[in-house]
Amino acid sequence: MTTPTSSALLALIIERIQGEGPISFADYMRMALYEPGYGYYVTQAKRIGWEGDYYTSTDISDLFAHCVGRQLLEMWQWLDQPERFVVLEQGAGRGHLAEGVQAWAQNEEPAFATALSYHIADIRLGRDALSESDVTEQEIRPHVLLSNELVDAFPVHIVEVRDQHLYEVYVDTQHGRLHEVLDEPRCAELAAYLERYKVPWQTFSNGWRGEINLNALRWMEQSASLLPAAPARRKLHGFLLAIDYGDKARDLYTPERRRGTLACYFQHQLTERPLQRPGEQDITAHVNFSALIGAGRQHGLRLHQFATQREWLIQYGIHEELERVRQRDFALIETARASDQGQVALLQWYNLRHRVAALTDMAGMGNFKVLIMKH
Ligand SMILES: C[S@@+](CC[C@H](N)C(=O)[O-])C[C@H]1O[C@@H](n2cnc3c(N)ncnc32)[C@H](O)[C@@H]1O
Repeated sequence: MTTPTSSALLALIIERIQGEGPISFADYMRMALYEPGYGYYVTQAKRIGWEGDYYTSTDISDLFAHCVGRQLLEMWQWLDQPERFVVLEQGAGRGHLAEGVQAWAQNEEPAFATALSYHIADIRLGRDALSESDVTEQEIRPHVLLSNELVDAFPVHIVEVRDQHLYEVYVDTQHGRLHEVLDEPRCAELAAYLERYKVPWQTFSNGWRGEINLNALRWMEQSASLLPAAPARRKLHGFLLAIDYGDKARDLYTPERRRGTLACYFQHQLTERPLQRPGEQDITAHVNFSALIGAGRQHGLRLHQFATQREWLIQYGIHEELERVRQRDFALIETARASDQGQVALLQWYNLRHRVAALTDMAGMGNFKVLIMKH
């Protein structure tokens, strides 16, 4: 179904293609997601959560935010507990993670809560993480730059292998519809990128595709420059914590993943038709964490931790907290299981246990990656 927004945006995209010829998939994705007034991320419709197109870890359980809270507390301690500890969450969406972390800190760690100065930014609040002026304009110098599922939204180029030759996917138009065409890559950076991460694409079969997120490299460079400059004595002065789905390059660009990782979400359904409904569906691609780590290192950051979300949640005590919650809130299950309240408690307990299992499930969110780099 086409809506007024998607047809107006479609008309704009077609007009641009008619003016300048086929556009790269990255340019198409930028318009579909960010075109002022029409893009998926800049219009006011509900996108995230049960009423939207997809949900994130913060929708599943507060216990996720509590682990982030414990991680931030530890970072604050590593930095010798600055009086004002500034956290900037980019791509914060509805701000649920921010609320969850701050509520946890107030309940569990009042001294940390007093120091914590938690700021949220999102393109829907007019704050583009890819814009160089975004944070400097606001005069926020974060100790920690945090994001959950931000980088997967950045526009990507798509390359395709044909007869051991590398082509790029462009978007063209015919009879008022959009379609893909292959052509020589216009920027040399794409082949160099695959070279840099040692992707043996020459050995891949015809039709193999991969996405290349050049914006992620730029974002990493900007992020490194936002963290506080190094005072001479201190060993540590800032962290970047990015959670997203993706892998290191060697596990991402494999012959088995023949058609890449691009995915579209519309009303909780996964589709593989990015040219449909521009502006009405989410378009994402897995993150190449080797690229984030490499770019971070190039701009002065050091790798602190790279783990699966499962490993990291366990490290930050999700199972211990689950057990504490069981003892605190679900005692009725042991003492009066047969009563109505006991039965309700049992169902609520199963529900919570299920949610924690979903966050840590290696076939799902547990396989998301947590990257921590330090300055
Ligand atoms: C998948 S949602 C995740 C939201 C939130 N972090 C969460 O965990 O629920 C991606 C968010 O990133 C925002 N976003 C996408 N591109 C952005 C950009 N370039 N700059 C800032 N925010 C962006 C979107 O508006 C959206 O709120």
